[in-house]
Amino acid sequence: MKSNAPRETFSGRSAFIMAAIGSAVGLGNIWRFPYVTYENGGGAFIIPYIIALLTAGIPLLFLDYAIGHRHRGGAPLSYRRFNRNFETFGWWQVLVNVIIGIYYAVVLGWAASYTFFSINGAWGDKPIDFFIGEFLKMGDINQGISFEFVGMVTGPLIAVWLIALGILALGIQKGIAKSSGILMPLLVVMFVVLVVYSLFLPGAAKGLDALFTPNWSKLSDPSVWIAAYGQIFFSLSICFGIMITYASYLKKDSDLTGSGLVVGFANSSFEVLAGIGVFAALGFMATAAGQEVSEVAKGGIGLAFFAFPTIINQAPFGELVGVLFFGSLTFAALTSFISVIEVIISAVQDKLRVSRSKVTFIVGIPMMFVSVVLFGTTTGLPMLDVLDKFVNYFGIVAVAFVSLVVIVTDEKLSTLGNHLNETSSFKVGFLWRLCIVLTTGVLAFMLFSEGAKVLSEGYEGYPSWFVNTFGWGMSISLMVVAFFLSRLKWKDETLAEHKGE
Ligand code: PFF
Repeated sequence: MKSNAPRETFSGRSAFIMAAIGSAVGLGNIWRFPYVTYENGGGAFIIPYIIALLTAGIPLLFLDYAIGHRHRGGAPLSYRRFNRNFETFGWWQVLVNVIIGIYYAVVLGWAASYTFFSINGAWGDKPIDFFIGEFLKMGDINQGISFEFVGMVTGPLIAVWLIALGILALGIQKGIAKSSGILMPLLVVMFVVLVVYSLFLPGAAKGLDALFTPNWSKLSDPSVWIAAYGQIFFSLSICFGIMITYASYLKKDSDLTGSGLVVGFANSSFEVLAGIGVFAALGFMATAAGQEVSEVAKGGIGLAFFAFPTIINQAPFGELVGVLFFGSLTFAALTSFISVIEVIISAVQDKLRVSRSKVTFIVGIPMMFVSVVLFGTTTGLPMLDVLDKFVNYFGIVAVAFVSLVVIVTDEKLSTLGNHLNETSSFKVGFLWRLCIVLTTGVLAFMLFSEGAKVLSEGYEGYPSWFVNTFGWGMSISLMVVAFFLSRLKWKDETLAEHKGE
């Protein structure tokens, strides 16, 4: 977009839905959901999960769509048009995405590398030693920080940045929509093949039993409910700017709620599918080693980079399983990563009113640099862990909580509801507003209960200076920087352009 060109739009509803599903379906679905479900009551977890989806996930998705679509801007501009004092919250969301983007790229780079390693078997018989020792060359954080470059990590990391920035520079329709339109169907096909294959592995039923056997007593534990809400927030990419940004590129008369329902249910269906595939494979791994599923069940890095390489070593057609699993992880993460960076690009473009390719460069290159220095080096793993906890948990929950408080107290919820109803097939009313108010309360509870825990117990035994600097320090500085960014002047025409009617 040149300074006075109209805002670019998605060509139609399905282009938007693909991009939004591309954003939602990511690492959260494949490596987070199965383990969160397993740990929080198995089959019984479905109840808090569905309640969280219906009372928080879908209503907040609608809210994000309404804000972005009505105000036609990235997060800061949309919030600013909503209420001139709210711009800071938009920038805060942008900054959360800056941090997430910087490290999401890293996992994406690892997944892409492992797709190739699946073919050449680079990890040998000891995947954990390979990952930590040979691949990451991880140093001991207790000995201080060391920024020594690790070639095997740095190259692919730069490559994924350049690919993502290339797609983003092409714009909404030609870049984001087109890449999601290709990668998402491919992801579904690859993943379905992987799941069907896993179901035929010996021991698959044992894994599924472990995943789905309900532990009803867990439902009285508040932390299980927190986990359900946390999973929904993370997985649907709601309330931290992504969905506001994507909705701002929708044409005027778009069916917002109808699309939201499709995105919400598609995302959850993919999670359940991933749960089945992952636990069938873990059942096979446990059976092959003569162990219980509880001894091999993992999520996150442990699942992808320790457990799966072991499964790939032992399963028939292991290379194929590896390419399907890591290929799926790569595609899912790439489309989510793109959406995270788009939040930043869109915000900066609104403010500076310069061409998209220029902004992609201004935003992307420094971020790539930081990402490579922080994570392409020997301190990568602990840094990732701490940033993940603080930004992904506290960052997202805090930003969502504060944004909701300002929106709810501004009494504009019904205006946004009317906006949704003007063009959408599924109408919202009192119940929708009630869900949003209740979710604000749930977020407050999540924030304070987990905050108190980390404050009193520390985090994962990391040195406190490390957690204070990269955890708390970083979280607080995001708010301060957001405030200063909101003080920068807008071009007059940007504010005059659209009043949200
Ligand atoms: N919703 C995506 C996922 O489940 O991985 C994308 C995403 C969520 C990216 C949360 C980053 C994040 F912090």
